[in-house]
Amino acid sequence: MTVLGSVRSTVSPDIGLDIGTTNTVVYERGAGVLISEPSVVAFDTRTDEIFAIGHAAREMEGRAPGYIRIVRPIMRGTISDFRAAQTLVARLVDRALATRPRLAPRLIAAIPGCATDIECKAVEQAVRAAGARYTTYVPQAVAAAVGAGLDVTTLRAQMIVDIGGGTTEIAVLGTAGVIRLASLQVGGSSLDQAILQRLRFGRFAIGLLTAERLKTELGFAGRPPGCESLAVNGIDLDAAAPRARLVSEALVGEAMQEGLGQILRGIRAVIETLPPEISADLIESGITLTGGGALIRGIASEIGALTNVPTTIAIEPLTCVARGAGEILGSPTLLEQVRPHADRFTRWYQSLRIGMRESYSP
Ligand SMILES: Nc1ncnc2c1ncn2[C@@H]1O[C@H](COP(=O)(O)OP(=O)(O)OP(=O)(O)O)[C@@H](O)[C@H]1O
Ligand SMILES: [Mg+2]
Repeated sequence: MTVLGSVRSTVSPDIGLDIGTTNTVVYERGAGVLISEPSVVAFDTRTDEIFAIGHAAREMEGRAPGYIRIVRPIMRGTISDFRAAQTLVARLVDRALATRPRLAPRLIAAIPGCATDIECKAVEQAVRAAGARYTTYVPQAVAAAVGAGLDVTTLRAQMIVDIGGGTTEIAVLGTAGVIRLASLQVGGSSLDQAILQRLRFGRFAIGLLTAERLKTELGFAGRPPGCESLAVNGIDLDAAAPRARLVSEALVGEAMQEGLGQILRGIRAVIETLPPEISADLIESGITLTGGGALIRGIASEIGALTNVPTTIAIEPLTCVARGAGEILGSPTLLEQVRPHADRFTRWYQSLRIGMRESYSP
């Protein structure tokens, strides 16, 4: 950061936001990750006011009294409940910046590649309501790549796979643009659901938090790592009574197989559509995994074996998107190159003004 840049960001911080299906991450350029909390809001329906957000709201899931309504405002990467999303973002940004009084921040939010213009606008409005003096957005895959330390301005193509809670975004990037993008409606949450369903099939009911714990502690792709079985509490549906049960890694692995298969097939399908030059680039640049799903045991080697492309896991994969977005905001050149919609509109407007609209190609 230049001296001028550092003075400016001390007065008015540059904030990168990843408003994910599972977690919302707030990153301040120069200060690091300030907040990483579940994207959950609890409303008190008696007063229609916010009761809790983030960790506190998530702890209440499945345990809250009837008058508390638990909302997950992001579904499959996009806003499904605008008011809850707006509240979540505003409160988390407030909390992140509360320690030092400063001018309104500049905010950048990462948006999934599959988001429509209306969905992008909804994110921008939710972010603006957090009191920013400037807001913009970038494609999530580009932010993830920058956060993972990849050089997105290089000519050589590279692949980034972000396995989040709601979606898996598979992108091939080249010269600061997205060459190919596929967004799969499968992620960590569907794996949790599959584990829950698999146990229910064996007449044992567990909650989603327990299913997620089984996934993170016993889940794997490919060969079983040999973890000890885990005792979890639930309801024995035959006895209609609470019980503890030992769950094996084999059972968890079996439940996750279908979802992981979809992710692997999705990656291979994107690679199959690439022109030879770009495919060849990937042999050198490889595939980088980000998002919480990158932490599933064995997933990098499974993807590597299936695609024949070296696959690595980014450092701190859960915060790559927010860190990358914040870094892009701090670099005017990079921001100009990667901001797709604003850039597209500016080019269209400029070409219209000089009577050369046909020169515009999206
Ligand atoms: N160690 C782990 N092993 C397996 N899965 C994990 C691990 N840690 C986190 N996860 C999973 O990662 C998911 C959350 O990842 P992430 O925060 O990247 O998603 P998100 O950004 O909120 O969602 P999206 O990008 O789809 O909107 C959750 O499903 C969580 O269970
Ligand atoms: Mg994400």
